[in-house]
Amino acid sequence: MTRAWPATLAHGDVGLRPLRHLDARRWRDVRQRNIEWLKPWEATLPPEALDEGTVMTSFGMMVRRLRSEAREGRTLPWVLTYRGELIGQVTVGGMTGGSLRSGYIGYWIDREHAGRGIMPTAVAMALDHCLNAVRLHRIEINIRPENAASLRVVEKLGLRLEGERMSFLHIDGEWRDHLTFVVLSGDFPGGVLAHLEASRGAPRTDSAAGEQ
Ligand SMILES: CC(C)(COP(=O)(O)OP(=O)(O)OC[C@H]1O[C@@H](n2cnc3c(N)ncnc32)[C@H](O)[C@@H]1OP(=O)(O)O)[C@@H](O)C(=O)NCCC(=O)NCCS
Repeated sequence: MTRAWPATLAHGDVGLRPLRHLDARRWRDVRQRNIEWLKPWEATLPPEALDEGTVMTSFGMMVRRLRSEAREGRTLPWVLTYRGELIGQVTVGGMTGGSLRSGYIGYWIDREHAGRGIMPTAVAMALDHCLNAVRLHRIEINIRPENAASLRVVEKLGLRLEGERMSFLHIDGEWRDHLTFVVLSGDFPGGVLAHLEASRGAPRTDSAAGEQ
C-alpha cells in the first residue's frame, strides 16, 4: 500500500487532518451535543461481537486503535475542521492492497454545521487523496436508505449506485440494509473535488444518485 499518511488536506475553510489525542476535549463536547443527531446512523456492536474486545469505550481507545490501523496502512482517520475547528470526522477504513485495492468511507458532522455543503467537499478531498496519493482502485460509501442527508452527499458527488446490501451493517442496535455507492479509479479524470465544484455552478437536474 502506498504510504500517504499522515495527510492534511484543505479547500477553502474546510479541512481534513489526522485525529490526535489532543482532540479529546473538543471531540467529547461535539459528540455530547450530537448524541440524538448521530444515533440513527452510528455503528453498534452485535451481541456476538461483544467479546472481541473491539468496543471503543473511550476517546483514547478510539484514537489508539485508529492510529495503530493508520500505521498499518488500513485506515485514514481524519477529523473534519471548519476554519480550523473540529466539527466532525471522515474515516477511510478497510483499506486493502493486492488485487483488490479497496476501502470505504464513513463520516459525520456537527449538526450546527450541517446543510452548508461542508461534507461533500470533505469527502471529495478524501476520495481524491485515496485515488491519487494512496492509489486505491475502489472506494465505497454505504448508506441506509432512510438517510436522506447522506444520500444527498453521494448524489452531489456523482457517485455510482452499485446496489443494495441486505442486513449489511449493525447500526443503532440492529442489522440494517444499506445502499452501496462506489467510485472507481478513472471515474473522475479531473478529480472528484473539481467535479463537485463544477456541478455547484450548474443548475440542479434532480436526477437520481448514481445516474451519471
Ligand atoms: C450526512 C451528513 C454528513 C451531511 O453533511 P452536510 O455537510 O450537512 O451535507 P450537505 O450540506 O451537503 O447537506 C446534505 C443534505 O442534508 C439535509 N440538510 C441540510 N441541512 C440540514 C440540517 N440542518 N439538518 C438536517 N439535515 C439537513 C439537506 O437535505 C441537504 O441536502 P440539500 O443540500 O440538497 O438541501 C450529515 O447530515 C450528518 O453528519 N448526519 C449524521 C451522521 C450521518 O448520517 N453520517 C453518514 C452515515 S452514511
